[in-house]
Amino acid sequence: MQRVFLKGLKGGTGCTAIVANLACVLKKSAVHVIAIDLDSKSDLCLHFGLPWKNTQGWSNANSFEGVLKHFHQDNDGVIFLPHGDNTPSNLDLNKLANNCKKLDTPDTTWMLFDCPSHVDINNYTLDEDDIVIEIVNCDSICHSLIYKRLQKLKNTTNAWHHFFLVNKYNSASVLEFDLFSLWQSTLPLMAPFFINHDEVIKESTAYRNVALNCAPYSVANDDFETLAGWLASKAAL
Ligand SMILES: Nc1ncnc2c1ncn2[C@@H]1O[C@H](COP(=O)(O)OP(=O)(O)OP(=O)(O)O)[C@@H](O)[C@H]1O
Ligand SMILES: [Mg+2]
Repeated sequence: MQRVFLKGLKGGTGCTAIVANLACVLKKSAVHVIAIDLDSKSDLCLHFGLPWKNTQGWSNANSFEGVLKHFHQDNDGVIFLPHGDNTPSNLDLNKLANNCKKLDTPDTTWMLFDCPSHVDINNYTLDEDDIVIEIVNCDSICHSLIYKRLQKLKNTTNAWHHFFLVNKYNSASVLEFDLFSLWQSTLPLMAPFFINHDEVIKESTAYRNVALNCAPYSVANDDFETLAGWLASKAAL
């Protein structure tokens, strides 16, 4: 099993959209995928077409056996677990992420976690094969946050794989070009590519779907395929 924890370095970086699109691209390449919503906004399932009236998820269950009843499968075969409308503690988030290792799934399963941006990644008990991706946008706030984050990381020993990934990259912006070039040349842990800003991602969300199904020849879908291929090269599977 390959666990991937995706988290925005700040709110609104596009983390949830990436989890949903990545899940579908991986599934298309015949990989078994489970997408799990750890964020109490509970919006991951929007991309998988779950009806609005379905507000329940793992946070509503009293035990892990109860959690099992809340898994769904979308039309592409992606298995997903909604968050639900309870407010669990940070300890509960970690417990769920660990309990999911007990799921009876093929060894080659990819488990993608949509993590809330306000909960530090050190809240989770991570294994050395786990991959953590912190999503950033090329702006001055992330510029400051990324340096703070690296300072903090310097003082801790982490066995897991950790990367920063740029999303919503606007190639027409000189500031974004300069920041991306600077980060690539000076910072460790940067993924060597970016996901472009593409309206297709917003449009496919409006259709309660993903870029692969709504615009398979889009820049967005190409970017998610690049991400999936790159992740496969980092995976322990
Ligand atoms: N590459 C992109 N290009 C254009 N729009 C994008 C891109 N990625 C995400 N978006 C849009 O940005 C908005 C926020 O995305 P999303 O909800 O995935 O962010 P988030 O980081 O999960 O936010 P939160 O911190 O609130 O959980 C959505 O409208 C989404 O469609
Ligand atoms: Mg989100």
